[in-house]
Amino acid sequence: MTPPYVMISAAALRVGQPLGVDLYLHDLSTNQLGLYKQADYALHASDLEQLRVEGKRHLYIHREAQDRYHEYLRLLVSDDSGDTPLAARVGAMDEVVRETLRECFASDDPNRIVNTAGTLAQMVLRVLDGSDFTTAELLQVVQHDYSTFTQSANVAYFATLLAKALGLPSADLGPIIAGALLHDIGQQEISDAILCKPGRLDDYELHLVRQHPLNGFRKLCRHDALLDGQLMMVYQHHEKIDGSGYPVGCVGDEIHPWARLCAVVDTFAALISIRPYRGPRTHERALQIMEFDCGLAFEPEMFQCWKKIIEDCSRA
Ligand SMILES: [Fe+2]
Repeated sequence: MTPPYVMISAAALRVGQPLGVDLYLHDLSTNQLGLYKQADYALHASDLEQLRVEGKRHLYIHREAQDRYHEYLRLLVSDDSGDTPLAARVGAMDEVVRETLRECFASDDPNRIVNTAGTLAQMVLRVLDGSDFTTAELLQVVQHDYSTFTQSANVAYFATLLAKALGLPSADLGPIIAGALLHDIGQQEISDAILCKPGRLDDYELHLVRQHPLNGFRKLCRHDALLDGQLMMVYQHHEKIDGSGYPVGCVGDEIHPWARLCAVVDTFAALISIRPYRGPRTHERALQIMEFDCGLAFEPEMFQCWKKIIEDCSRA
């Protein structure tokens, strides 16, 4: 049976404007959802602060109200008048990206998936290319669950930051974001029982997981609208510059630069996410783990650039 409530992110809530849907909170003492605010209530800044202090990053809405909530999110994302705080726009963008990816990946229609990734990439670029946007704001908003949708969304945001910091041409940004949204599309063919397995994968399960770049490439390779670099982000994002990656074991420049960029941010995003068998790593710990591999797995210039982005925002 479909659950009557769906979880939403507190990051997309905006003060001073009724949401138009009832909001519910999970009451830990009763393990039940309780009505938090009615649809016509305009949230105050103190409400959001209280949620933050109490560590409540998620709320719930009734499934029947989902369409109205999505309309609210889309208006928020497209509001570049300056009236909507950037944190709420980024939060709304993240909800729209993850929810839209979830829907269109499930369709298993490559045309729809590629077109949707292109549309979402333009939306991400419009929001994240804002001049007053900070990395710290983004890092506070991103979710840490290890669903393919969350991982793909986070990789797309981080790829935007890294591509900009590396000084890549602005015309490359949209295609890189779309490629990042698509990079793990091959995971659709792997069961949740394997992807979310709490213990170690056996040899056969590992073999299946390592097929996902090839599966994704096969799914998308006949699509004329995709650039070589985007296809290589799908096919080569687990390759390592020392040749120890998969599926082929390419070395150095044999790996497309966009795939090398994807490898850096994909690894970071995975390390800071929650896995069935461990909690999220801190940003500092994730960088340490990656640094141990740097020069072996990642292109040093790209890794150092990413490290500086994260360290600068930690110091700010
Ligand atoms: Fe992957």
